[in-house]
Amino acid sequence: MLTDKRILMIIGGGIAAYKSLELIRRLQDEGASVRAILTEGGSKFITPLSVSSLTGDKCYMDLFSLTDEAEMGHIRLSREADLVLVVPATADLMASMAHGHARDLATTALLATDKPVMFCPSMNVEMWQHPATQRNVAILAGDGITQIGPEAGDLACGEVGSGRLSEVPAIVDAVTAFFLNQAAEPTTDKPLSGRHALVTAGPTWEAIDPVRYIANHSSGRQGYAIAGALAQLGARTTLVSGPTNMSPPAGVKIINIQSAREMQAACQESLPADIAVCVAAVADWYVANETTSKVKKNGGPPPTLELVENPDILAGLCKSGDMRPELVVGFAAETDHVVEYATAKRRRKGCDWIVANDVSPATGIMGGANNTVHLISDGAVEDWPEGTKEAIGLQLAQRIAQHFAPEAKGEAKS
Ligand SMILES: Cc1cc2nc3c(=O)[nH]c(=O)nc-3n(C[C@H](O)[C@H](O)[C@H](O)COP(=O)(O)O)c2cc1C
Repeated sequence: MLTDKRILMIIGGGIAAYKSLELIRRLQDEGASVRAILTEGGSKFITPLSVSSLTGDKCYMDLFSLTDEAEMGHIRLSREADLVLVVPATADLMASMAHGHARDLATTALLATDKPVMFCPSMNVEMWQHPATQRNVAILAGDGITQIGPEAGDLACGEVGSGRLSEVPAIVDAVTAFFLNQAAEPTTDKPLSGRHALVTAGPTWEAIDPVRYIANHSSGRQGYAIAGALAQLGARTTLVSGPTNMSPPAGVKIINIQSAREMQAACQESLPADIAVCVAAVADWYVANETTSKVKKNGGPPPTLELVENPDILAGLCKSGDMRPELVVGFAAETDHVVEYATAKRRRKGCDWIVANDVSPATGIMGGANNTVHLISDGAVEDWPEGTKEAIGLQLAQRIAQHFAPEAKGEAKS
């Protein structure tokens, strides 16, 4: 997937620097060539010899090295790459990047590069959450620099929280997705232009009273990634979203709703569409005895919630008669017998494809950054390797584009 891609890796002085060694290997496995700059801080954690042994090149460290400057030059080093990848991105490196410091070879190369930059933060939770770090994060986002992670979990310092370097496979996936996106970007490569795609994402909130509701752990990330990827491939994309913390993807029309019934109405009003991808984790039931005033404890028995089944948005789209989108894709979030239940769901709902994922808590998929899915169509089950939700979104959008490709039209519908 990364054949012929040249990556300049900048290794900062964080405890996770050792993971950059594994990352070099994995990027090379995908076909990339990797050059590395090790900061002075980075060299306190891993040796230049390890870096050089893995890259098969010099380990670049010194801005004022006569030989390095004569042979390569910091400008050439930063330009002769397709991507600059900062990993681990320490708080200090991020501050330098945000404020344009050029105090050593790494920061000078980052300032001199004309290539895209991605960074993978890794630090203690307090450092990460510090307003100064968060200001730098915002500056870097504004500069169009792509952030990968960090993840929440156990940190090397013994604390727990956000700040953990993303896992190596997730970084490889993000880099791969970046190059795939880049390849899809030229305006000539918009295979879905002229198509309208409808995507649902996020949870629904089913009100109990004016202050309480029933919800679920869906983050919306997978649906937003799919909507963004479809838009990138040229589809006019409408995203009907339950409440999430996500920013709408570029070029996507967003309709914000709360309840399943609102989501259904918004979907029906958005037709006609060529493509419907129902990713939202829609509540099965709504509260029929929702109250207009806050329910109070009054010393008596707890209130009884009267649950009534919500409309089936996916099945409804499949049964829209003339308005049925040509390709309807459902998602099945299961905790047991994932493929078996999802296959049955495809038949029951009448959709063309089902994307099945295992949302057992141990998988971390619900609300997490990664996903492992199976694409189930008529008679075929494809097991896709684990990837970031963005990489899975792009892969699905590309499969959808293949379905609509003129040369695929003569073939039996998958
Ligand atoms: C044992 C130890 C571990 C550290 N781990 C981290 C870390 O994980 N992330 C971070 O941002 N800074 C960490 N620091 C602080 C950085 O090493 C320090 O800010 C350094 O100047 C960063 O160098 P750089 O700008 O070359 O990355 C650590 C320091 C020590 C002594």
